[in-house]
Amino acid sequence: MTMLLASCSHNRVPDTYKWPSEMVPEAEGKVELPTIDMQDEKNLVQHIMKALQEYGCFQVINHGISREQMDDVNEMFKAIHNLPREEIDKLNREQDQDNSVCHYYTSSVNFHREPTHYWRDVLKQACSPLEECVPFWPKNPHRYREIVKPYIVALKEMGLKILQSAAQGLGIEENYFENELTETNVFYLNSYPACPDPSSTIGLARHNDPSLLTILHSGRVSGLQLLKDGRWLGVDTPHYGFTVFVGNIFQAVTNGKVKAPVHYVRNTTEARTSEAFFISPKIGYPVKPAKRLLEAENALPLYKPFTYEEFIETFKIWPKTKDTVLSEAFKYTS
Ligand code: OGA
Ligand code: NI
Repeated sequence: MTMLLASCSHNRVPDTYKWPSEMVPEAEGKVELPTIDMQDEKNLVQHIMKALQEYGCFQVINHGISREQMDDVNEMFKAIHNLPREEIDKLNREQDQDNSVCHYYTSSVNFHREPTHYWRDVLKQACSPLEECVPFWPKNPHRYREIVKPYIVALKEMGLKILQSAAQGLGIEENYFENELTETNVFYLNSYPACPDPSSTIGLARHNDPSLLTILHSGRVSGLQLLKDGRWLGVDTPHYGFTVFVGNIFQAVTNGKVKAPVHYVRNTTEARTSEAFFISPKIGYPVKPAKRLLEAENALPLYKPFTYEEFIETFKIWPKTKDTVLSEAFKYTS
């Protein structure tokens, strides 16, 4: 079992974590993402569409998850990253790793094959079907399952509400996404430990998400960087808010009308945590552009049809930066 970053103290960056400086761009400034007030029903569709077309992402406030509930889950997440090593080993051992519901690991699932590692420890926690997954979630901290389960339900609801508004804005069936397109749900609890030299490490390399939609929460410390018009800009998440991104699958369904934003995680001298909820299709789902959209715009498909499984398998082994998978590997050629 590999060492977790959290289990050692770091006065210097080990060589196997050092990236060339062009892979670790420094932000040129900050970006103020559009803020979507989920209670503002009257303007919701229009505001979401505008944000998606301009950024492919936005911040969400008044989302219906109370501060008390967020405080409670954040206590749980903090405790997860502080579990003793034996507990983490036990959690990993209790399940078959290729097919596990929960897996706590360092850097990436490719640790043994990647030449350079990421400065990140993470718990991957499958959430669909929810009732079947919960019994495999961590037993400790005490009440973890009880507290985290309703939070996952609320994140899914929030995601569906956003997708319903987006469908309206796109002029496709309002319930377009309420089916197998949103069936796979995975939650990642990221910990980016304090780093002695953030200019030489990467928390997560540049990518756009392999999901339909991602809902991200992060703690007080910033580190997320967004590529906007060729410039890297820092993103702060409002403390009790969320940052929502569309992923590659959304880009494919909208035939490129909405683009999945490119982002990366820069490490910091202070420890940082974030949690990302990925909403994705059922594994064998045939992903293609929405018919109504193609018809309305009399457009040709930009991407080849593919199943979600094909996309994920390609994404995993893609040798270039992971923001070019859809546009290069699945580009439509007639
Ligand atoms: C991701 C991601 C950002 C962060 O998990 O895909 O981009 O701040 N996370 O951890
Ligand atoms: Ni991401």
